[in-house]
Amino acid sequence: MKRTLGTCYYPEHWPEPQWAEDAARMAEIGLTWVRIGEFAWSRIEPTPGTYDWGWLDRAIEVLTAHGLKVVLGTPTATPPRWMLDRHPDMLALDAQGHKRGFGSRRHYCFSHSGYRADCARITLDLAKRYGQKVAAWQTDNEYGCHDTTISYSDAARDAFRDWLAQKYQSPDALNRAWGNVFWSMDYADFAEVGLPNLTVTEANPAHVMDFRRFSSDQVASFNRLQTDIIRRHSAAPISHNYMGAVVDFDHFATGADLDIATWDSYPLGFLSDRIAASPGHKRAFSRQGDPDFQAFHHDLYRSVGRGRWWVMEQQPGPVNWAPYNPDPLPGMARLWAWEAFAHGAEAVCYFRWRQAPFAQEQMHAGMLRPDSQPAPAYHAAAEVARELADMPEVQETAAPVALIFDYMSAWAWATQPQGRGFDYFNVVFGFYQGLRRLGLSVDILPPDTAALAAYKLVLAPAIATLPPAVLAAFAAYEGAALIGPRTNSKTADFSIPTPLPPNLPGLDCVVARIETLPPDLPVPLAMGGSFTLWREKLEGSARVVEYTTDGWPALVAVDGLHYLAGLPDEPALARILTRLCAAQGIDTTPLPNGLRCRQSGAHRFWFNYGAEAVVHEGRSIPPAGVVWEKIG
Ligand code: GAL
Repeated sequence: MKRTLGTCYYPEHWPEPQWAEDAARMAEIGLTWVRIGEFAWSRIEPTPGTYDWGWLDRAIEVLTAHGLKVVLGTPTATPPRWMLDRHPDMLALDAQGHKRGFGSRRHYCFSHSGYRADCARITLDLAKRYGQKVAAWQTDNEYGCHDTTISYSDAARDAFRDWLAQKYQSPDALNRAWGNVFWSMDYADFAEVGLPNLTVTEANPAHVMDFRRFSSDQVASFNRLQTDIIRRHSAAPISHNYMGAVVDFDHFATGADLDIATWDSYPLGFLSDRIAASPGHKRAFSRQGDPDFQAFHHDLYRSVGRGRWWVMEQQPGPVNWAPYNPDPLPGMARLWAWEAFAHGAEAVCYFRWRQAPFAQEQMHAGMLRPDSQPAPAYHAAAEVARELADMPEVQETAAPVALIFDYMSAWAWATQPQGRGFDYFNVVFGFYQGLRRLGLSVDILPPDTAALAAYKLVLAPAIATLPPAVLAAFAAYEGAALIGPRTNSKTADFSIPTPLPPNLPGLDCVVARIETLPPDLPVPLAMGGSFTLWREKLEGSARVVEYTTDGWPALVAVDGLHYLAGLPDEPALARILTRLCAAQGIDTTPLPNGLRCRQSGAHRFWFNYGAEAVVHEGRSIPPAGVVWEKIG
């Protein structure tokens, strides 16, 4: 697989005579891809039904004439102002019932049928006109970004009622599934069911969960509306650019209709406002980003894209949207791209070509400054392009370890955290970090996978409901598994199952009690380290591998199948993973802080997220540096 680079370009932002020069410079530094169009609706259709295709025709011509391949975005994330006159009720409502107004972007409700019809119409126009001219597509832009998956509008309520009627067929069945006998919440008709906001105290969690499932389905069907149309007129692959740490719709479900998954990687922005980390960690990596956050998403989107994935937007310099926006260390714009390639990205596109001097993102760096002079990312991209010319082939290998990721569990534990800070993304990310600190490459698997046999170790923390196929796969699995805490602790209807969890094949143990722990109340483990935040008391005859110091089983097992009864801190996790790996013949090496490694085919890549050079097992890796070596 040849790996390539690109950028995100907005011809509508610049005078037309500048386009050819821009295109020539992109080609000259070795870019292959240019993504355009995703916010251009008001310039394509300035008034309803009046189109101005000329500029977009010419932009695509100029870019392709310079050898660039165009990724065309459908502009549905930015409905023009006139759309609101046509559909005054298309705006989403937040949980407080406030309208989310015009004047930025993503101001639409996924359930509004009138807006959907207009999206279908503009998508059809674009697909017919450019279906044979562009090299790839992007649907919309960052579904769910700015907290836009869930809308409490009337359109959402009506569509939710239909969805419930389809799912349950009768109000009695819904009442039974949700447990509406509790607090006299029974419904006599689907038309009585409201949305789970503005209730006096918490809404029924089963109600919230169904609304979240529905909201996720709406994203998938909104996307499918576009992919179905595009496919009828174009053979070019279709992608969508997901945003980091957005988990409130199921990317596997939406991704099933796409050819390529892409994601938008802003390492410094994410570190400052999306990662639960200590102030010391944030300070140490403030100009580099968290050493595992990008890799986690690379591995996740490799899975969402069924092997085909890109970074569609790569941070080029300081962004504008985090609480603080430091300049990346020299070298990071190169390191981030190589890290994506090492994890299997087909392409990395820097966002954006030229910094815009106007509007919301005027303080966001580009590859060029607003005066068109090169900014550091311009040189970094040129350097990566030269390196790719020498080593275009990065092969892939299955990792020895797999981690299961389940969006529905993110909704489950957001609905019912039970302890402040119990956040599914951070729980799973913690296990991922533990694996990577031991030098391991990881594959991320969807929650309904039965394909465990390829892995020597599989982790499945905090999955609310293990589907029957996965339970069957665990029953047949011969490697090691680390399951829990909280795994399989809810039925599909969001109740506590009986027999009590975890209900794992052959493992005689039940979770008899759970407790959550404030930060200053960890539960120490007899072999060192602690459980923090979440802890379970297990009963049963399963073999106990580790105990807590207060005498309860901390880790139990039957054969290779292990159940963990709490959230381990760093030392406890390192010990448990090291032991499991050793038993499976997987090599582990504790890595220095900030150093990470990834094995891809015949190469091993080393990434130094640290600000100082690192010497590790005889090799020296410069600060913010990447080196690779042939193995085998
Ligand atoms: C992304 C978005 C881009 C741009 C960028 C700025 O989330 O897709 O359009 O806003 O952030 O960092």
